[in-house]
Amino acid sequence: MATAARLASRVLPSRVLPSRPTRSRRSRLAARAASSSPDDDPSPPRPAYDRAVHAIVVGGSSGMGKAAALECVKRGGSVLIASRSRAKLERARAELASTLGLDPDEAAARVALDVVDASDEASVEAFFSRVAPGEYNALIVSAADRAVHGAFLDLPTSSVREFVDSKFWGAYHCAKHGAPALADGGAVVLFSGVLGRRPGVNCSPLAICNGAVEALARTLALELGPRLRVNAFSPGFVDTERFDHMDPERREAMLESTGRSLPLRRVGEAADAGLALHFLAQSAYTTGTVLDCDGGHQVRQYADAGGDPMRRAQKD
Ligand SMILES: NC(=O)c1ccc[n+]([C@@H]2O[C@H](COP(=O)([O-])OP(=O)(O)OC[C@H]3O[C@@H](n4cnc5c(N)ncnc54)[C@H](OP(=O)(O)O)[C@@H]3O)[C@@H](O)[C@H]2O)c1
Repeated sequence: MATAARLASRVLPSRVLPSRPTRSRRSRLAARAASSSPDDDPSPPRPAYDRAVHAIVVGGSSGMGKAAALECVKRGGSVLIASRSRAKLERARAELASTLGLDPDEAAARVALDVVDASDEASVEAFFSRVAPGEYNALIVSAADRAVHGAFLDLPTSSVREFVDSKFWGAYHCAKHGAPALADGGAVVLFSGVLGRRPGVNCSPLAICNGAVEALARTLALELGPRLRVNAFSPGFVDTERFDHMDPERREAMLESTGRSLPLRRVGEAADAGLALHFLAQSAYTTGTVLDCDGGHQVRQYADAGGDPMRRAQKD
């Protein structure tokens, strides 16, 4: 039995044992991945709901990407986590190993890591050239720099462009160079965010990237299907390392007031996102969608009932 499968069998119920390709199947998959286009083979891959997720997670050293990696490994899969900082990736692997009780050999077999800068197409191309075609059946791209915020009329265009390079072009580069490497029946998940369809003042850079990512995901569902599924994942406010740079009191106040405004009365945790991302990676009949995982942010009302004209009107 392959090392990853043997290790998985020790920690998992049999119904979720991984079906990681063997070496010879991998070379067949590689040849097929390299030669096939949607028109060549109109018959869709068979659904495999019990198939473990073997995911490449670009942005997997932190936050929601790391939570998705945890979910994949916990449920019998394996991951290749990637980001710009090797030190962060090493720390993330150690954390995953400690959370899941993996010994060093298990951690090395189930959690591979590599460095990539998603905003740099040459770096992304080189990264995917190091991935054995067919070895992974999911690509999750959570990578993005910290967003720039500010009034549309005041924000320097160059700083917005830099952010778009990271958040939108990063997803674009990864989908373009990563999709051909995925196993048949695999899934691509790109990150948008709540501010695309529920915009916020001073948040135009995030809004435009989120809209563009969702449009890209829907289009790719058509172009890459039926061989691959493509979906966008739209988180609301999720408490991750992304906000570690903030003053703790300010951060707490921001989380608390946002949470209070939501139907679920709390901001998200990375684990909320991890579970939803695993669903998108595995759900064999879901493509071309945007999955909101936002505590109800898309439908939230005014935080203060007194400030909501509609709720006031009902009382009058
Ligand atoms: N947290 C929220 O409230 C929220 C809300 C809506 C949408 N989102 C979106 O959700 C995604 C994940 O957010 P998060 O909170 O999980 O973020 P996070 O904790 O800051 O993690 C971001 C990850 O991306 C990597 N990364 C950043 N730039 C990269 C690049 N150019 N190339 C490769 N890797 C890069 C980082 O590692 P390195 O520094 O090592 O590169 C890190 O692993 C982002 O796209 C964000 O826009 C977040």
